[in-house]
Order: sequence, then structure tokens, then C-alpha cells
Amino acid sequence: MKTLLVTGAAGGVATRVRPWLREHYRLRLLDRREPAGLAASETALVGDITDRETVRRAAEGVDGILHLACAYSFDIDFEATLDANYRAQLYLLDACREYGIGRFVFASSHHVLGQHRVDGFAGDAAPVAPDGFYALSKVFGEGACALYAHRHGIKALSIRIGNADDQVADGRRLHIWVSGRDLAQLIRIGFEHHGITHDVVYGVSRCPDPFFDNARAVELGYQPQDAALDHLAPGFVAREAMPVTAGPDFVGGPYVPQPLIVRSPQ
Ligand SMILES: NC(=O)c1ccc[n+]([C@@H]2O[C@H](COP(=O)([O-])OP(=O)(O)OC[C@H]3O[C@@H](n4cnc5c(N)ncnc54)[C@H](O)[C@@H]3O)[C@@H](O)[C@H]2O)c1
Repeated sequence: MKTLLVTGAAGGVATRVRPWLREHYRLRLLDRREPAGLAASETALVGDITDRETVRRAAEGVDGILHLACAYSFDIDFEATLDANYRAQLYLLDACREYGIGRFVFASSHHVLGQHRVDGFAGDAAPVAPDGFYALSKVFGEGACALYAHRHGIKALSIRIGNADDQVADGRRLHIWVSGRDLAQLIRIGFEHHGITHDVVYGVSRCPDPFFDNARAVELGYQPQDAALDHLAPGFVAREAMPVTAGPDFVGGPYVPQPLIVRSPQ
């Protein structure tokens, strides 16, 4: 059984995908906080990915890395993303190079396309249009995966996750929702498929009028099992009824109108 390092292992996405992954892999969980509900095939390390030695120790001996840890909020300033989202991404990829780890799966985000308007949106082929400094760091993260994939032969998959939640809250997220089970299926493709160099796919389940066709994911064998319409939240808000502050007209929703702050005043 292969061993995977999972960063951000105490977070929401990890908590949703771990039950589907630990049937197939031993999981080494790394987070700043203790993850809950450890199974027999999981071990936990408490540490910070912005510390390079912590990353090297955590990565030694694993077969692949699932990189979920991230500094993020819809209004995060650039400086606050620098250590966790830029430097640490390179510490992890460079640990792959150093230890011959052949697989890297990166949690990117639909926010790399966030400033595209929902109407007339060009789908998978649209050029990146990050909607803030969080999204910009994901563009960097994808670029870093491509750099190490082509230079060092690390097979990398960037998954532009839509909305990974238990329920669908509103009419924007209806087009980008993903279940833990479907996301885990994509992650497994990232760790197992032989045809990957650095590929970009969308982490979405079966959604009505999806923003992304997800053609590459389908080519790689992705068959989503769960449907957004089966998971509407009791207080579901249709797109027409969403307030302007929720960004109903943009792929990135409420991230789009936020001010861009390079460095917050100290
Ligand atoms: N949740 C979504 O719908 C969604 C959508 C798009 C992309 N993503 C991406 O998926 C990933 C996981 O998201 P999430 O919703 O689970 O986030 P989360 O905030 O619930 O979890 C992130 C985890 O990372 C840990 N972490 C943060 N910085 C760290 C550091 N420096 N060192 C060690 N651990 C650190 C936190 O303690 C936390 O447990 C993120 O990269 C996020 O950008 C999530």
C-alpha cells in the first residue's frame, strides 16, 4: 500500500476526502493542528509547512503528496499568502525532487477563473483571471507544479476545486459543487493515472449547467457519482435572489469585489 503525505489534513476538504482515500493508501497527516478521527491507516504530525525542515521530515519516504494546506480568505492580502502559498509549495515540490516522490496532487481553486462573468464564460479553455491574492497564489501553485513536472518528471495534477461542502448553499455554487467522494476519485486519478504530466482538472460533481466542461478529467476516467441537485441546503438561495455582495454574476462570487491589498498596515 502506498503512503501519501496530506498537508492541511485537519481541514474541511481533508476531512471529507480522507474516509475515501484511507481505504487505498496509508496517510501521513500534516497540519498545524491535530486532525480529528484518526483511522488505523493514518498517522499525524503537527507542524507548519512554512518550515522547510518540517516539510522534508514529513515527506521522507512517502510515495505521493496531496497538498491542501493553504492561507486563504476572500480578502487576504498578498504578504499573508507568501509563506504558506508560495514558499511552502516549493518546499514540498522540492522535497519530491530530493526524495524521488513521483506524484503531487495540488488543491487549486475555481477562483483562478474567478473574474470571468458567468454569462458567456468560455469554460475549461478560459485564460486565468484570478479574483484576488488567494487566487493569484493558486495560479503560482499550478505553475510551480508544471515547472517540477516538466523539469523533474514528477507527475502532478492540479485540481481546481469548486465548492467542497456538505450542501449546496446558493445558485452560484450549484454549478461548481463537489462531494468528498468525487473529489477523492479525482485525487486517486492524480496518484494512479499513467498519462499525467502536469494536468489541470476541475473538482466538481454532477452539476446542472456546469461552469466547467471538465473534458480532461473525463479523458482521465473521471465519472462523478454525486449530483449537486441532491444536496441543496434547506436555505438554498437561487442565483436571481443572491445579493450583489455574493457576486452572482461572476465565477468567483464574493471574492471579486474585494479590494486588492498588497500589504495590510502593521
Ligand atoms: N473548501 C472548498 O470549497 C475549496 C474550494 C477551492 C479550493 N480549496 C482548496 O482546498 C484546500 C483545503 O481547503 P479547506 O476548505 O480544507 O481549508 P481549511 O481552512 O478547512 O483547511 C486548511 C488546513 O490547512 C492547515 N494549514 C494552513 N496553513 C498551514 C501551515 N502553514 N502549515 C500547516 N497546516 C496549515 C489549517 O490548519 C487547516 O486545517 C485549500 O488549498 C483550498 O484553497 C477548497
